[in-house]
Amino acid sequence: MIIGVPKEVKNNENRVALTPSGVHELVRQGHKVVIEKNAGIGSGYSDEEYSMEGAQIVSQAQGWSAELVLKVKEPLEQEFPLMKEGQILFTYLHLAAGLRPLTEALLKKRITAIAYETVEDRQGALPLLAPMSIIAGRMAVHIAAHYLAKPQGGRGVLLAGMPGVHSGKVLIVGAGVVGSNAAKIAVGMNASVYIADINTQRLAYLEDVLPGKKTTIYSTTKTLASVVESADAVIGAALIPGAVAPKLITEEMVKSMKPGSVIVDVAIDQGGCCETSRPTSHADPVFVKHGVTHYCVTNMPGAYPRSSTKGLTNATLPYAIKLAAKGVEQFAKEDAGFAKGINTYQGKLTHKAVAEALKLEKEFVPLIQALSP
Ligand SMILES: NC(=O)c1ccc[n+]([C@@H]2O[C@H](COP(=O)([O-])OP(=O)(O)OC[C@H]3O[C@@H](n4cnc5c(N)ncnc54)[C@H](O)[C@@H]3O)[C@@H](O)[C@H]2O)c1
Repeated sequence: MIIGVPKEVKNNENRVALTPSGVHELVRQGHKVVIEKNAGIGSGYSDEEYSMEGAQIVSQAQGWSAELVLKVKEPLEQEFPLMKEGQILFTYLHLAAGLRPLTEALLKKRITAIAYETVEDRQGALPLLAPMSIIAGRMAVHIAAHYLAKPQGGRGVLLAGMPGVHSGKVLIVGAGVVGSNAAKIAVGMNASVYIADINTQRLAYLEDVLPGKKTTIYSTTKTLASVVESADAVIGAALIPGAVAPKLITEEMVKSMKPGSVIVDVAIDQGGCCETSRPTSHADPVFVKHGVTHYCVTNMPGAYPRSSTKGLTNATLPYAIKLAAKGVEQFAKEDAGFAKGINTYQGKLTHKAVAEALKLEKEFVPLIQALSP
């Protein structure tokens, strides 16, 4: 198979979908790998390193002309014309977050688009979302601490506190991969940490394993409202896989927060779990609404591309290898969790939650039906 890796074009997106050692594995298995010139430069991988492992360095158009395209972020509008009719695209897509123009472009071009974030493993976890969720969760607390500083417009609260002075209060909404990693860093910083979820097993697990000052909360509108008003930082990390993020932090709750507090809405790539959130970029990461600083960057791990590229490709490479060897149809038949990643298949919208989120229910075709000849 011919496998292409375009350079990412999103604002400050320095990750790349394949490392030189990933190229080595795919070439060893008889595939041809074409990498767009300078695609790895932001992650510290030169064209020479890719060439040495057998990749061909090509133009943007040639990178996009492959049978299988590996990417990090969803194609932006400027990339739509580069997508080739009938090709396979394996990347983060987050279509449910309102990306209707992209969904329509994928359908029109009959692209088979497999979203990293909806691929499941045997336990129903999200193995290709997890590595970036680990990074975003760990980053979220650093970011909250940064924007709580007075020179950054914050309340001037040090999350760690000090002897005789209260620690900062951090509410984490969603105790999955982002939430538990944020909690780990926050308790490590000596903050007072509140973690809310509707999954009581996750809460019990975190109660057991986390040291430090932590309180677990069953998430309801009322319990969240009671903590939000006194929180110095709120981290949005709730997800319903494939669907738009639940709006758990209402505008009223935001209004109740103290001026200079911070919201880091990590779930913004799925639409955000705070009513006042809107997507921002690394170039202009925050805005203030009702006196509260909102950080809503949709590609947070892009800020740490060296670590993120390694973490991402460690997870995606085994899937890319199987996909290239077996093709979509065979791989989907053998692995139901991989099949859940297929959001569009040759002109058909095959992910129900995406169809519902985008009000494209009429376009929805169950994958099993789409795959049958
Ligand atoms: N902005 C970024 O750069 C970035 C990076 C990585 C991940 N993310 C996003 O972060 C979000 C979380 O990802 P994850 O990997 O932690 O997902 P996850 O599935 O591991 O965890 C989500 C958690 O949300 C909980 N949840 C669902 N409904 C809830 C409710 N009503 N109240 C409280 N909790 C609720 C679930 O029970 C689950 O524990 C996703 O939207 C993901 O796409 C964003």
